Amino acid sequence: MSNLPPAVRLDQSAQSMIFDLRRGAAELVWLGEPLPADQDLLVFCNSVSQGRRPSQPDEPPPWSVLPQTGWGYSTTPAVGLMRRGTLLPLQLRLVEVAQSPASLLFIHGDEANGIGIDVAWRILNSGVIEARARLTNFGSEPVDVLDLASLALPLPSWASHATRYSGRWAAEMQQTRVRLADGGIASASYGGRPGFGGGNWIRIESADLGEDHGHAISAHLAWSGDHRLSVECNADGRAMLMMGARLDPGEIKLSPGQSWDTPRALFTVSSEGVMATRHAYHRHANSEVLPSSSSRSPRKVHLNSWEALGFAMDMPKLTQLADAAAAIGVERFVVDDGWFKGRRNDRTSLGDWIADPDIFPAGLKPLVDHVRALGLDFGLWVEPEMVSPASDLYRRCPDWCIHIAGQDRPTQRNQLVLDLTKAEVSDYVYKCLDTLLSENKISYLKWDHNRELFPLAGKGHAQVFALYALLDRVRAAHPDVEIETCASGGGRVDYEILRRCARYWASDNNDAIERLRINSGWFDFLPLGATGNHVGPSPNPITGRCLPMDFRAKVAMFGHMGVEADPAAMSASDRASLAAHIALYKEWRDVLHRASLTRIAENVPGAFGYLALHGARGLALVAQTRFADDYASPPIKMHGLDPAASYRLRLLLAGTPPSDGRVAQPELWHSGTVKTGLELLKAGILLPASGPETAWLISLERVA
Ligand code: DGJ
Repeated sequence: MSNLPPAVRLDQSAQSMIFDLRRGAAELVWLGEPLPADQDLLVFCNSVSQGRRPSQPDEPPPWSVLPQTGWGYSTTPAVGLMRRGTLLPLQLRLVEVAQSPASLLFIHGDEANGIGIDVAWRILNSGVIEARARLTNFGSEPVDVLDLASLALPLPSWASHATRYSGRWAAEMQQTRVRLADGGIASASYGGRPGFGGGNWIRIESADLGEDHGHAISAHLAWSGDHRLSVECNADGRAMLMMGARLDPGEIKLSPGQSWDTPRALFTVSSEGVMATRHAYHRHANSEVLPSSSSRSPRKVHLNSWEALGFAMDMPKLTQLADAAAAIGVERFVVDDGWFKGRRNDRTSLGDWIADPDIFPAGLKPLVDHVRALGLDFGLWVEPEMVSPASDLYRRCPDWCIHIAGQDRPTQRNQLVLDLTKAEVSDYVYKCLDTLLSENKISYLKWDHNRELFPLAGKGHAQVFALYALLDRVRAAHPDVEIETCASGGGRVDYEILRRCARYWASDNNDAIERLRINSGWFDFLPLGATGNHVGPSPNPITGRCLPMDFRAKVAMFGHMGVEADPAAMSASDRASLAAHIALYKEWRDVLHRASLTRIAENVPGAFGYLALHGARGLALVAQTRFADDYASPPIKMHGLDPAASYRLRLLLAGTPPSDGRVAQPELWHSGTVKTGLELLKAGILLPASGPETAWLISLERVA
């Protein structure tokens, strides 16, 4: 006899979940607006239970959090296991439920096959829901894990569309909306990292979803290795979202008595538009994920040497760049690739982590001292997981890279990946980093990763754990050093690596128009304070586009601001404009980095707009990328304001105000104008210009 209750519920302030347990499975029958505390669960379950449809098994498969093929469930199952080379015919039944106010643990067992799977869902303080599964081998023989989803989420009936975040190098997180009934979604990565494909992020939505209305589920796999994602629509129209680590056969083998935990999946649910899902993720990142020391201290303005110097660095150029950086208000000077032994191009030296004796005959110290004497922090680029075949390290230890004995060792960017699962390799890398950080006053590491992990040789999963262990070891020994995760831009960004990294490099593409597009994808999940956002040169080295400094600088303010260009090479007016924007960023970063971020101006063609609101202050950015269709551009409506409050609005013009008459009433904007929240929400404000490549900053202050 089963002791299971017939149904259970899990509630958070804005959502309820109800699970029908009567068929020996946890069937999610409600995921949506909160239901009354005294709701009769059985009555509810009966009212939503579906009958059998034609061409279904006589007992239709439970729509559960652990769908299995053995029930007649006809799309991808949540679990696949093998013993002695044969697929296990699993019959996992729900045997127990453990409940706390914020969590549910569904314990499944298959006695005949000696397998247990616990599916755990937990509501975190931020309101984000964490899902993961634990597999235990109770049998007497080993079992191979082919697949186990971290999250199998039966989707509500409103889920008709999805926004994907696919991309490529220098064009990450491109949002594409698809209709689920048109064939669903399948995506996976094979390079040992999440990659640029964006398949570790997804938003499921109702057809009418908007910034402040409609239904949405935003989901993410917090895992820095390969993933797989699917959204499949059954023949009866019901859809299932699945996310988990992608495993190679043989990678996870459990001996009798052993268990394996999947990575965490995260999801948020909203009945009030996209903004609620974004706010929940930002809350979560700031309060529960990002290293606390970094999320509490002001995000310092960077100058990174990459787009100013590339590999062509020497002491005079570096010290002059640092001087020019200090003069415009930069607070941290980061020496990018090119500083270590023999590294004059990308064909050499990875693994030899000592300062190049030709550039730095006395080591890094004189440069670090120079930078610190200017009042700036010092940061350094490293790519610790890699080795160049042309390096002392490779010549000494050629078999420390991931490879398959007897096979070719194909390179990418002329480099190979070190096998961090070997203790001696990880120790070597740790010692190099420890020496650099102990001997020099370095406050920041840009940790790059420019090559995928082929051939994996069954190492993908273990390599990710070895990376986490290495990062943890470095952080334990040097807790004040901030680390940025970079993988040719945004090739390895996820909520697990962000437990260890204060910042992610959103893209190698610093073209402000492209960045607006790229960042808008990242901002759906990640807060401004963690998003590296730099002012690049004009013309931009990747796109060739020229953009005014005023536009570039305003766009870079909405993130963790930095500069990736040589201020000394700019015109005097560009330099002054950049310095004015850096000063403005410092004034507003507390608001920007703690803010609830909403999209505005979605109705203005070619415009990207955000309102960052924190307490009584807010800062809005409206950036017009292309020439407007009409002279009369539509008013910009705000979101998330208190309709009953009054706000003073000011147009912030860093530097010289435009003189061409586009600002119709500059005095009014300067001294401010007061409007009610209701007016701003419903009628909006009219911005003065519709020219392409113009950006506006509007400050808001609650006055009553
Ligand atoms: C790729 C990074 O994304 C760039 O910002 C730069 O650091 C280069 N690597 C250096 O090799």
